[in-house]
Amino acid sequence: MDQAETLRRIRTGTADARAPRRRVRGIAVASGKGGVGKTNIVANMALALSRKGLKVLVFDADMGLGNIHILLGLAPRFNAAHVLTGAKTLAEILVEGPNGIKILPASTGNRKYGELAAEEKLVLKSELEAAQDDFDYVLFDVGAGISANVMFFCSAAQDVVVIASPEPTSFSDAYALMKVLSRDYKVRTFRLVVNSCRDRAEAAGIHSRLVMVADKFAPDIRIDFLGHVALDPAVPQAVRSQKLFSDLFPGAEASKDVARITDALVRTASAGEVDWDAVFKG
Ligand SMILES: Nc1ncnc2c1ncn2[C@@H]1O[C@H](COP(=O)(O)OP(=O)(O)O)[C@@H](O)[C@H]1O
Ligand SMILES: [Mg+2]
Repeated sequence: MDQAETLRRIRTGTADARAPRRRVRGIAVASGKGGVGKTNIVANMALALSRKGLKVLVFDADMGLGNIHILLGLAPRFNAAHVLTGAKTLAEILVEGPNGIKILPASTGNRKYGELAAEEKLVLKSELEAAQDDFDYVLFDVGAGISANVMFFCSAAQDVVVIASPEPTSFSDAYALMKVLSRDYKVRTFRLVVNSCRDRAEAAGIHSRLVMVADKFAPDIRIDFLGHVALDPAVPQAVRSQKLFSDLFPGAEASKDVARITDALVRTASAGEVDWDAVFKG
């Protein structure tokens, strides 16, 4: 994409300055390690938020290997790649999930988008800015690992939720992710969700261990405990039917846990809004 083309795609002044603005909260959900339940927690949290009457955009930020649409049983015709190439606008590619949540699908099996180029980030930024007044929350399901895209979306959001499981490998990757975000991107505060655990006590134990390690080796990092989601057979069962577990099994332990972490998130979400400019300056 050349510069002129990029500029053409960047929208300017589309929002009516007099219209009352929504304050959109950006929440990035990351984990370091893959397979710990990020996508399930993002999608079920989005549903819980929408049940509170909030307008939610779920951004599949796992841009080369997105799969949130699969979890929801959707088959979108277009995805973020069509926005990045200029073929479609953001509004044209959004698809609707349960209870009116909007999904921004990622391309899947496309290595090119594993790391966005600077111009691509600008296109995304302007599209998101144009759309953000329609939403109260944007949840970013960032991919596994510590790639440039993970760093980008975590620094764009006001709040970073880190998902870990009680397994030492997940614990270690969650810590590594927070360390890199703090050291290289000045993201200092994290909210921990321990997934696939026995109970709240086990999750609290994981939280204490992470805090102890951080206090010793990365004292700038602050890790708040957001909550836990129990290991629950309702989760894989719902995944296999391509439905959200909190939709299919509202009484399940995992569904009650997601409702609790969503309440905690709404109570404690940081003030302000997604600051795309800060990301580009940084
Ligand atoms: N709380 C849970 N209880 C039982 N199984 C879970 C739970 N959370 C996740 N899983 C299992 O882990 C799999 C991977 O979850 P997913 O959300 O796709 O992880 P990620 O997005 O981090 O790669 C799910 O398909 C499900 O089978
Ligand atoms: Mg995922």
